[in-house]
Amino acid sequence: MLTSRIVVDRDFVISALDRRVFGTFVEHMGRCVYGGIYEPGHPTADQDGFRQDVLELTRELGPTIVRYPGGNFLSGYNWEDGVGPKEQRPTRLDLAWGSTETNEFGTNEFIDWCRTAKVEPMFAVNLGTRGPDEARHLLEYCNHPGGTHYSDLRRAHGYEQPHGIKFWCLGNEMDGPWQICRKTAQEYGRIAQETAKVMRWVDGDLQLAACGSSQRAMPTYGAWEYEVLDHCFNEVDYISLHAYFRNDSNDIKDYFTVIEDLDYFIKEVAAIGDAVAAKRRSPKRIMLSLDEWNVWYKAHTPADLRKPGWPEAPPLIEEIYNFEDALVVGGALITMINNADRVKAACLAQLVNVIGPIMTETGGAAWRQTIFHPFAQASRHARGQVLRAKIQADTFSTKTHPAASLLLASVIHDEESGAVTVLALNRSTSDEMQLDVELRGLGEGRKVAIASELHHGDLKAINSKVAPNAVTPVNRTDVSIAKGVVSAKLKPLSWNVIVTTPT
Ligand code: AHR
Repeated sequence: MLTSRIVVDRDFVISALDRRVFGTFVEHMGRCVYGGIYEPGHPTADQDGFRQDVLELTRELGPTIVRYPGGNFLSGYNWEDGVGPKEQRPTRLDLAWGSTETNEFGTNEFIDWCRTAKVEPMFAVNLGTRGPDEARHLLEYCNHPGGTHYSDLRRAHGYEQPHGIKFWCLGNEMDGPWQICRKTAQEYGRIAQETAKVMRWVDGDLQLAACGSSQRAMPTYGAWEYEVLDHCFNEVDYISLHAYFRNDSNDIKDYFTVIEDLDYFIKEVAAIGDAVAAKRRSPKRIMLSLDEWNVWYKAHTPADLRKPGWPEAPPLIEEIYNFEDALVVGGALITMINNADRVKAACLAQLVNVIGPIMTETGGAAWRQTIFHPFAQASRHARGQVLRAKIQADTFSTKTHPAASLLLASVIHDEESGAVTVLALNRSTSDEMQLDVELRGLGEGRKVAIASELHHGDLKAINSKVAPNAVTPVNRTDVSIAKGVVSAKLKPLSWNVIVTTPT
């Protein structure tokens, strides 16, 4: 049996956790919109064509903010195509995914869906084929009360009140050769700066995110962030990070260390933002928006990315997640939470069907993929102040990571309710782990309110339509607390959630 110990103190706080880290992403790609959140004619569809089964699962998943409309799709998108009477909307070629876009679903439908799902919208403006002019018009359409061309157009479309969208992404993955109208760092930095400037003139109450590198492995990584921020440092609040995790060696230990790489990625981008600040002797801190992240490597062949014949909403990158993917997603959530002082927004990409925690059958059922569970649990229970966790645990080694902790954990204190949540991942492949968590300054009169474990004997186990709950969390009754110390035994390869509350 391994032993491990965590010490936290109520006063030793990393940061308040921004609930926007539990965001997700809806792109016009594959069956994410059509056949995912929107499917008129589906037995559960409401009068707006929104699938109620997907809405119910979305509410259970608990995203706080949802990014839209892309993704690579964004860089060829004309927002004007997706508003107004549906029968007048043009059908277009979507060059990003080789699909036909009917524009039956657009900005206002997405806002309606967000209101129904009770999530905040995060919008993105096309800085590929388009630029500041369209961005300011879209913003005027969405956020200006009325009395101008675009705000009155919104009202004429049936939306008297402004949408009030606060969080905007300035383009998507502009460094990638696959992007429609890719840009150099200088080209993008300038257009991001000017777009941000005019957007703030339209609406002074916005949060704006510039595009960072589309992955840490990009050859321009680091230099891109520096140069982009050197242009738009004063105008933006966030820089984005995108991270898709792969299990190339099919070895769980190697796979687990994508979590360490994510930690490096976060700290590096924060440091680059601080270097740009230092050049200006500025106290401003650029925050991080991890606005696309997930496991994605199985459904990543050319045939997964594009289907011949310009189909409408073809199945694209419908990754089937297994138990080990859920463990990695849990570890990534712990890493984001422990970097709460800099990571202020994050979007699990995407919400449904397209590398999604929710899977549907067109015309049929909807179910939870394995990765649904750690996300839903973290979103439900991680609220408040992230405490600095002093962790003592054994380590494991891989070729690239000589001393990775077998235990990963976050401890979050909700000052309002008094609840303290421990998220813990035992990465040992063989050994059970005795975990003791010493809660200093948090009162001795506590009880274990929730204890739950996600474990399966087969790392490759999946959920499916016929076995939707093959991988699902189970409640435990054997976790105890005495004199401010929580004690639990963690199974090897398990994700665990323990919530204590004042008695
Ligand atoms: O989420 C799928 C795609 O991955 C997005 O469209 C793009 O931004 C990223 O490369």
